Amino acid sequence: MTSYDVTLERTDGPNRTIEVADDETVLDAAQRAGIRLPYDCRKGTCITCVGRLLGLEDDSGESDESADAESNRSLDAADAVAYRREPRALTDDERADGYVLLCIAHPRTDCRIEVGPRVRAEVGDSPWS
Ligand code: FES
Repeated sequence: MTSYDVTLERTDGPNRTIEVADDETVLDAAQRAGIRLPYDCRKGTCITCVGRLLGLEDDSGESDESADAESNRSLDAADAVAYRREPRALTDDERADGYVLLCIAHPRTDCRIEVGPRVRAEVGDSPWS
């Protein structure tokens, strides 16, 4: 089994790095680690659990900070996660801008993800909620 280090960052801190197996979701791993994150449907339809990809880390520990405001380019969520089912609460543009539904997302690399109310406020309501 492969696992990845996923750092969950909050604007108001603290940040936490958790180990996420490739067959579990980020939300499940966070809960296993005792981290409280918002969620509702756990099916990718309500958008409550949304986070945003901030950066990737390769095997050498080097970071890709492409999502930083200075570069003005977002990371595509597909760079870091695979989904167990269709993330219906997100548009294609939102996925391309790095938004991730943590309840159905399996990491495929070490990465940093912003979580918290600010991320939730950036995206609209789910068309399925
Ligand atoms: S909890 Fe509803 S989309 Fe993740």
